[in-house]
Amino acid sequence: MNELVWINGDVMPLAEAKVGVEDRGYQFADGVYEVIRLYDGRPFTLREHLERLERSAAGIKMTLPMSAAALAKEVLQFVPRTRVREGMVYLQATRGCAARNHVFPKHCMPNVLFYVRHLAPLDAPGEGAGAALFTVQDERWKKCWIKSIALLANVLAKNEAVAAGADEAVFVEDGVVSECSASNLFVVRGGKVITHPVGPNVLPGITRMVLQQVARQAGVEWVERPVKFDEAVSADEVFITSTTREISWVGKWDGKTVGGGRCGPVTLKLHRALRERVTRDTAALVGAA
Ligand code: PDD
Repeated sequence: MNELVWINGDVMPLAEAKVGVEDRGYQFADGVYEVIRLYDGRPFTLREHLERLERSAAGIKMTLPMSAAALAKEVLQFVPRTRVREGMVYLQATRGCAARNHVFPKHCMPNVLFYVRHLAPLDAPGEGAGAALFTVQDERWKKCWIKSIALLANVLAKNEAVAAGADEAVFVEDGVVSECSASNLFVVRGGKVITHPVGPNVLPGITRMVLQQVARQAGVEWVERPVKFDEAVSADEVFITSTTREISWVGKWDGKTVGGGRCGPVTLKLHRALRERVTRDTAALVGAA
């Protein structure tokens, strides 16, 4: 299969792309990234992802070599060349290559690259097996709003969850649940969606942002506040969101049934509304590239 990568403005076979061993991403995890979903070959919320990339880059005091708008143009031109219809764009920007030194180098060009991977189409809302969560202590840094490539704490947490037979790890600190290793967390109580505010402990998920708009339109009340572990596991419904999942309803948490062990009505309503939004937005992209 002819897998391609866009790297610093050049397009080449993925297997041929090279980054120096002193790339600061490789040595210090000094970089940021995005994952953007493709629906029928069209990127969803591309602008929002690239704006978050700019905020993440600013958060690590890195200036991207091109604007979000210019990068979006490159992504839109590149994607059709890959022929992937259902999948994701992985995009990362590191500070670049320089002699190893913790201090930022004075002259260093960031390395920016993106490529596309196929993903299986998602289950229809309410269908498929529910996700199983597993609680882990939050041992991450306090800048989780930055989509940093330094993901080791998330990787360890996710593997702990998988080793315990679950799908996703939930971070807990001082009895409060914040988010998961690669997704945002939501509970439904009394018809209201409750989720932890974004910031030091929670990534401002793009799916979360779209969901908030969709919830407003659907008349579903949205509350942002810290959620205690006990009220989360006893909630009427629990679900998680990410670019690669959209919405996954949660049926198990630490081996016990939660949310009635089914996809609840609020989760289903929001997932259907989110799908409609995806269909509308990606249809509007036809011919836009
Ligand atoms: N992860 N929280 C964390 C820690 C994440 O890594 C992600 C996404 C999210 C959801 O964000 P979004 O809706 O913008 O995808 C929340 C991506 C998919 C990943 O690392 O693969």
